[in-house]
Amino acid sequence: MATQRKWRLWRSGVFLAALAPLVLWGWQVANNAAGPEPGRYLLLNIGQGALWMLLLTLSLTPLTKLTRWKGFALIRRQLGLWTLAYAFLHMLSYVLFILALDWAMLGSELVKRPYIIVGMLALIGLGALGLTSNRWSMRRLGKRWKTLHRLAYPILGLVLLHFLWVVRADLGQWTMYAMVSALVMATRLPPVARMLPKLRQRLASAWFSSITRPL
Ligand code: HEM
Repeated sequence: MATQRKWRLWRSGVFLAALAPLVLWGWQVANNAAGPEPGRYLLLNIGQGALWMLLLTLSLTPLTKLTRWKGFALIRRQLGLWTLAYAFLHMLSYVLFILALDWAMLGSELVKRPYIIVGMLALIGLGALGLTSNRWSMRRLGKRWKTLHRLAYPILGLVLLHFLWVVRADLGQWTMYAMVSALVMATRLPPVARMLPKLRQRLASAWFSSITRPL
């Protein structure tokens, strides 16, 4: 019972931590603390937030293998859904603040900024993963569920392309995200994935011998 309460607390903590940036940006906009273009401020911050959420979600499997801590696996679905929520709000900020609901402008926007099409594809992919993230879909899809959810990898590629297209020459921040993405993806390569439990054993025995070493 106490363990169940502990996990519920952990999940609630993660929920609040994921919600906090949205509350902060909303508060900044409401209090004129979001610069001269508050709509664009929201769009860009929420876009980066979505990428953060995606990277965090994809880090959970390697972290579980590395630490064997159940807590990481328990928040995987939640963070996946947060990724979708952030991506959806990012798209909504675009529609409300940049497009200003002027649908006639969408055609010329897509020609002027083709990276939006790439973003749309990523969002559709995230939507498919969100819709099938429940137990019912898992049971129905069986082995195909895992294959379908590997869509997260090309989605990450699409998001990085979308971001690169936006920043073009200013590559500093993008390179950081690309490096983290490469690391997260590298942990999926079979030889690296096989090494993770061994690395865990090594780290654990190094830690144990450091605390049991005589003074
Ligand atoms: C229908 C879907 C989408 C639309 C319409 C869209 C639109 C945009 C636009 C217009 C910008 C550039 C704003 C500017 O510099 O003027 C942008 C940037 C960005 N978007 Fe998207 N996007 C979509 C999907 C996504 C998704 C799914 C993600 C991530 C999961 C994402 C992450 C980003 C990031 C990281 C940036 C760069 C932010 C920055 O420069 O600080 N976008 N998006």
